Amino acid sequence: MTTAVQTRDLSKSFGVLNAVNRLTVSIERGEVFGFLGPNGAGKTTTIRMLTALIAPSAGTAQVAGFTLGEDDQQIRSRVGILTESPGLYDNLSTERNLAFFGHLYRVPDLSAQVDRYLKLLGLWGRRQDPAATLSRGMRQKLAIARALLHEPEILFLDEPTSGLDPEAARLVREFVADLKQAGRTIFLCTHNLEEADRLCDRVAVFNTRLVAMDTPAALRYQLFGRKVVFHLRAVRPGFEDLVSGYGFVQQVQSVENKLVVTLENPEENNPLLVQALVAAGADIQFLGEIKRSLEDIYLQLLETARLPEVEVNRRISEPAAREENHG
Ligand SMILES: Nc1ncnc2c1ncn2[C@@H]1O[C@H](COP(=O)(O)OP(=O)(O)OP(=O)(O)O)[C@@H](O)[C@H]1O
Ligand SMILES: [Mg+2]
Repeated sequence: MTTAVQTRDLSKSFGVLNAVNRLTVSIERGEVFGFLGPNGAGKTTTIRMLTALIAPSAGTAQVAGFTLGEDDQQIRSRVGILTESPGLYDNLSTERNLAFFGHLYRVPDLSAQVDRYLKLLGLWGRRQDPAATLSRGMRQKLAIARALLHEPEILFLDEPTSGLDPEAARLVREFVADLKQAGRTIFLCTHNLEEADRLCDRVAVFNTRLVAMDTPAALRYQLFGRKVVFHLRAVRPGFEDLVSGYGFVQQVQSVENKLVVTLENPEENNPLLVQALVAAGADIQFLGEIKRSLEDIYLQLLETARLPEVEVNRRISEPAAREENHG
């Protein structure tokens, strides 16, 4: 089995509120899947359904090969979950917090496993301190250790770096990257879009229903195309026409001493443009790609999702041309 999570029309209502509408996704084993969306989009609700903590109102899901609603106990034993506000036992030591949950999950060789995760997450030195005395970042790491103790196949992380200082956040991110390397499947909810861009194989933008789902690179390309910028000593008349004469070039703009070119496949085609410009007497000082941030993509997708259909098609064929940093 290569599919870790497969849902079909998974839905959840709370009274009249439709929190999750007909979510259909398929997540491969070993994939880091980013689940992005605004506050109240239904992300945590989705995680709670997929970890068999709450029952869906409609639709089906297979998690780790088991059917939700039929084999919930099997599912619970194969998933790890880091919740938004992980409840720890404040009076118990760091170590005892882990041991307590390990018992519940009947973790084999528990004390070795507890030691392993205390060390992996840098909590070894604080193992005997009551959880109440840990800093927020340490508590977060303890909660991550707890989610991993039973070696789950699929890990659900609900905003694992929220509220952490940059150093602690980086540690957690690196830890997630290591888990990915080790082949673990990770379902990641985060509001940190740079983090999602770095870690995720695919992202879904979700706002009570699925807005878009693909690799960050593919979403970038679909929405904005590929843009490179040639910094020249001077843009001479004729350069723009020269560049736009190539079939693979979609658009050229000259801005001060720069030529901003939207084109297909820059890896293949940039060298041709460089040769042509140099032959025409251009002094190329720098060359870089303008890479839109995942935040731009996310905001554009959410905005587009709110528009009527006709407007959507127009916007997608004429993406807004707001330039920013390149490199
Ligand atoms: N137990 C519940 N009873 C009633 N409404 C609920 C319940 N749980 C969630 N909701 C509602 O469902 C919607 C989705 O909530 P959810 O917590 O899944 O959002 P989220 O995407 O995780 O948001 P955030 O980014 O703020 O964490 C919200 O409108 C929320 O108020
Ligand atoms: Mg949430």
